[in-house]
Amino acid sequence: MPECLLELKNIYKSFGGVKALENISLKINSGEVLCLAGENGCGKSTLIKIISGFYKPDSGSIIMVDKEFKKMELRDAIKGGIQVVYQDFSIFPNLTVYENIAMNTLISKQKKIVKKKEMHKLAEMALEKIGARIPLDSLIETLSVADKQLVAISRAILCDAKIMIFDEPTSALTNKEVKELFHVIQNLKTSGMSIMFVSHKLDEMFDICDRVYVLSNGKNVIDGEMCQFNKKKLVYYMTGKEYSDENIAKEVTATEPILEVRNLGLQNYFHNINFKIYTGEVLGITGLLGSGRTELAKAIYGLMPADSGSIYINGKEVKIDSAMKGLEYHIAYVPEDRLTEALFMDQSITRNIIIQTMKKVSRTGLYNSKKALEEAKNWIQQLNIKTANPKNKVSTLSGGNQQKVVLAKALMTDPQIIILNCPTVGVDIGSKMDISILIQEIAEKGVAVILISDDSNEILTNCKRFLLIKNGEIENEYLSKDYTESTLYSKLIR
Ligand SMILES: Nc1ncnc2c1ncn2[C@@H]1O[C@H](COP(=O)(O)OP(=O)(O)OP(=O)(O)O)[C@@H](O)[C@H]1O
Ligand SMILES: [Mg+2]
Repeated sequence: MPECLLELKNIYKSFGGVKALENISLKINSGEVLCLAGENGCGKSTLIKIISGFYKPDSGSIIMVDKEFKKMELRDAIKGGIQVVYQDFSIFPNLTVYENIAMNTLISKQKKIVKKKEMHKLAEMALEKIGARIPLDSLIETLSVADKQLVAISRAILCDAKIMIFDEPTSALTNKEVKELFHVIQNLKTSGMSIMFVSHKLDEMFDICDRVYVLSNGKNVIDGEMCQFNKKKLVYYMTGKEYSDENIAKEVTATEPILEVRNLGLQNYFHNINFKIYTGEVLGITGLLGSGRTELAKAIYGLMPADSGSIYINGKEVKIDSAMKGLEYHIAYVPEDRLTEALFMDQSITRNIIIQTMKKVSRTGLYNSKKALEEAKNWIQQLNIKTANPKNKVSTLSGGNQQKVVLAKALMTDPQIIILNCPTVGVDIGSKMDISILIQEIAEKGVAVILISDDSNEILTNCKRFLLIKNGEIENEYLSKDYTESTLYSKLIR
């Protein structure tokens, strides 16, 4: 029998009027990978914050090593071996790798004088344990996201982690890095550690998890061994919807391209890019992080103007050298990094949705808050954004729901061309299917959609044809009907 490391009993947690968790009881056993699954806003991150002592439950208790806590403090959780690898990794960008890894441990041992040599040794040991090779003296800010994550994991290991919790650890990783992370997780598991894992990607859940605990609206709907489920069944429990991954792209009837790029280039990022897109089309561009996909998108929108080649809209050459110009030509851009590029976190949901289109919600130059609220409500309903009140700050939304606000904001601008850069990262599977349908509806209304993604399933569901970008070049154009998720995936990482 595996040992039970942690038990939650009848946990409740509300924020104002929102019931985030209701009557949650859950056990974590040693040496297992437990998947916490459910739609955006169902309570996964809240549950994690309760386990780690960051939030106190309104009622219920947490049992750890035979000790029952009503109000567990952060330090109790850490003492009990609970470590969370957060999405921002909570590491210090201007310190070195070894300082970040070893600091906590030495501080907790209340050492007054900290020797570099000692820290080096500790850090080296931790990195070795997970098989990571990162120069100890590098500054964190110079590392890739994946390496930063490995630093955060190494630090957790040094703090004697027994349960390591990952809240959407794969959202900013390339496919190859995900594989490497899974290798590390497997090793941690073999060493007897328990892992709690959150992801919205079904394949990842089935790949790495032994058990699944499904939440819906803060309640537990089912849990069990992963092998008792398949994709269809799991999606049904999470969303109440039927899972489908069939291609839903419509035939394009337009004969003249709305946008054409010829020999477009931007030094160090991409070169010699040629393609056309037609009104009503959803054109896929698939490529990995660092392939030039984001810079290409930004060039078309005007955020990072190209330095060679040309762009034609409706057959006429245009110069798009700023984002204002992009907007002027009715191009909208949905960036992949919503936290830094797209949202004003301490402003309301409504404000964020209408921020680029103030004119639409103003009368005779005056901002009409009633109209703004109406517009926002409309989008909240259409995109199924989970919130009690459109006037709430965006920061109170769950991650996936924030992403939907970014989408709403772009759609408000009535674009004729919309560039979606990985629009469903962190979005739950149910909403991802809704967003696919919405993308088709937008296209049908006469918008050309450029869908950039490294999610093979997303490309194959939404597009009839797609381009593959690698090392800043378009390798070729392909038809979705000739590919399956796994053949496209292999092509992508080859
Ligand atoms: N600090 C907060 N203030 C107000 N409401 C909050 C707060 N934190 C979470 N909520 C609400 O609690 C609910 C659960 O949110 P949580 O972040 O746990 O969801 P999640 O399952 O992690 O979603 P996602 O998959 O999008 O990350 C949501 O309705 C959210 O809006
Ligand atoms: Mg979350």
